[in-house]
Amino acid sequence: TQSDPRSIIANAQAGGYAAGAFNMHNEETTEALVWAAEKANSPIFLQVGRAIIPHMGVRRAFEMTSRIAERSNAEYVIHLDHGSWDEVLEAIRLGFTSVMYDGAHLPFEENIESTRKIVEIAHAFGIPVEAELGKIPDVGVKVDWNEYYTDVEEARRFVAETGVDYLAISVGIVHGVIPDMPLEPINIDRIHEIRQATGIPLVLHGASGLTDREIADAMAAGVHKFNADTDLRHAFRKGFESVWTKGDHQLEEAMAEGRARMVDATVEKLRLYGCAGKS
Ligand code: G3H
Ligand code: 13P
Ligand code: ZN
Ligand code: NA
Repeated sequence: TQSDPRSIIANAQAGGYAAGAFNMHNEETTEALVWAAEKANSPIFLQVGRAIIPHMGVRRAFEMTSRIAERSNAEYVIHLDHGSWDEVLEAIRLGFTSVMYDGAHLPFEENIESTRKIVEIAHAFGIPVEAELGKIPDVGVKVDWNEYYTDVEEARRFVAETGVDYLAISVGIVHGVIPDMPLEPINIDRIHEIRQATGIPLVLHGASGLTDREIADAMAAGVHKFNADTDLRHAFRKGFESVWTKGDHQLEEAMAEGRARMVDATVEKLRLYGCAGKS
């Protein structure tokens, strides 16, 4: 059944754990996420994001996700991930119950202004908004972290002036993982400071590749939603390839093995975030 994202996050906050938010990519990966939520008795955010939107559009991705989730026993939210202005408006029209507006590429004042307008519109429909402040780089790209980190004072103003429900922050996290390449440690103190300054639940993107310790410390510092994608795609790919390399007449079997491995990997994340058993 569809659930109110605000109560999922509020429960996570009260219980000191975090919700898991994962990206769907096709029929089988959507099934994997939904089945993992059922198996772990966990609420789940099913995300329509940057990879799928150019491939099939927001509407088709939403319809596929809804159809698969509706016929399950999972407690779920369909969430737009990294939405543009137009995508957020389309998502609200389509019936998404949670949206992220990503204005992190905009100058600070413009990010405030457009996020504030998005919040006004979404709230009129009863839909909570996640926004991003500070930029999240792609893995492997050398960056000057001073230009990427979320600034504490800006975060305080941003939240006060936009009325956003949850804030995605940049604290050393990256989108993606390169196998066998260690990532920089994330800045737990900064998470804590942003949480103190804003008072709202924080979101950590790029949660693939984080250590169990970092996940636990981030939750203790105020993170109550993790976005992970790459680790689950890797799990799918491993399962897929284990069958596919034996011959391409096995497409369905390869898809099924990818899906099975992704279910296991997702259940593992839901347990790590502490939301398993909370549905
Ligand atoms: O990013 C989107 C625009 O800033 C939206 O604001 O109402 O001025 O078009 P607008
Ligand atoms: P990863 O692919 O690094 O897990 O990031 C996922 C994400 O942040 C989706 O918004
Ligand atoms: Zn992200
Ligand atoms: Na990552």
